[in-house]
Amino acid sequence: MNNLSGTNWQKNIYVNGFSGAKPLIEVDFEKLEQTAKTAMTPEAYAYISGGAGTGSTMRANRGAFAKYKIVPRMLRDVSVRDMSITLFGKKLSSPLLLSPVGVLEMVHEQADLAVAKAAAELGMPYIYSNQASKSMEACAQASGDSAHWFQLYWSKSNDLVVSFLERAEKCGCSAIVVTLDTTMLGWRTRDLEIGYLPFMEGKGIAQYTSDPVFQRLLDEPEVTEQINRKINWQSVNGLIAMVNNYPGNGFVSKLKSGRPIKAVRKFVSMYSNPAVTWEDLTFLRQHTKLPILLKGILHANDAQKAIDYGMDGIIVSNHGGRQVDGSIGTLEALPSIVERINAQLPVLIDSGLRSGADIFKALALGANAVCIGRPYVYGLAVAGSAGVYHVLRNLLAEFELTMGLSGCKNISEIKRDMVIPEA
Ligand code: GLV
Repeated sequence: MNNLSGTNWQKNIYVNGFSGAKPLIEVDFEKLEQTAKTAMTPEAYAYISGGAGTGSTMRANRGAFAKYKIVPRMLRDVSVRDMSITLFGKKLSSPLLLSPVGVLEMVHEQADLAVAKAAAELGMPYIYSNQASKSMEACAQASGDSAHWFQLYWSKSNDLVVSFLERAEKCGCSAIVVTLDTTMLGWRTRDLEIGYLPFMEGKGIAQYTSDPVFQRLLDEPEVTEQINRKINWQSVNGLIAMVNNYPGNGFVSKLKSGRPIKAVRKFVSMYSNPAVTWEDLTFLRQHTKLPILLKGILHANDAQKAIDYGMDGIIVSNHGGRQVDGSIGTLEALPSIVERINAQLPVLIDSGLRSGADIFKALALGANAVCIGRPYVYGLAVAGSAGVYHVLRNLLAEFELTMGLSGCKNISEIKRDMVIPEA
């Protein structure tokens, strides 16, 4: 594992700058986002950056982090700093994980593989997306020995759910993260404005097309809805993309097989299941021995249910503000959830973390670890795997400095009374 010293990383930036070399990516998140926007197609930027409805949940996430202030403490010998934590019995060099983000082929051709490589270089667990552009087996090759988890969307086929769980175990995933908040796609204004959903072009469905159960489902006779689609150059381009995105060689034979189109239709009809309930978690428990974390918890009573239903951890998340507009910010939700969980399960948080200070605030309010999403995706857009690495190094360095400058040598010294809410 690399030496992740934040002060060395900071020093290197200045030393390189002395000889005229600028950092690979912008250090400021908003500037990074703007540069990433210019490196992405309008469709990719809309999909990655967009939130639900008016975007108020994304603002609530940021607002909650702004509301809490750090109260640094002095003269505590912080000359040696240790960011390591233990999660599910494994030592990690920092409390950062990479959130699952789908359809990364829109951002960079190496997509999830580039992210897996950077995460492995940093020894950070990467949560593979259910909507990845590369199969979990390919990602696992890129991760090597580095920790990786799998994010599951509960589809309408329990056979497919079981197949995903089995594949995740086989390719060395060490936890399953079930996303609860996307039983339907949220009302995504930016995507709706341009009428674009990447899955319709067969993007972001690699976990499905690489799956034997999904392939079997494609053999079943289809019950298709009659949709009046216009045939024009745009729909023909969409069809070409759909065929190209389907695995295998030979455009004509793939087109003739009809499978690329069937795969998209099948995916759209079954990827989510609004009927799932707490009782269904027993099914998951029966089909995997891996720790199961519930992602999307925002209410203390649901956190309690995670304990009652034998889950192993939770992620306080509102899906980066992409699902329910007007929802509570995750940092606002965190304290009551931490209180209810009362150290019985690890509590992770995502949605809206943009700086080392944000990471510090989340840990002070009781999170055991944090997950980063859009920032690394923007790094990927600007500079591929190296961009992801740089974003995460910057976040880690800023966090380490914030921790030390606030008087903490290690994570356990980051205490609840070190942040206060604005009056
Ligand atoms: C899928 O997870 C999405 O947020 O689009």
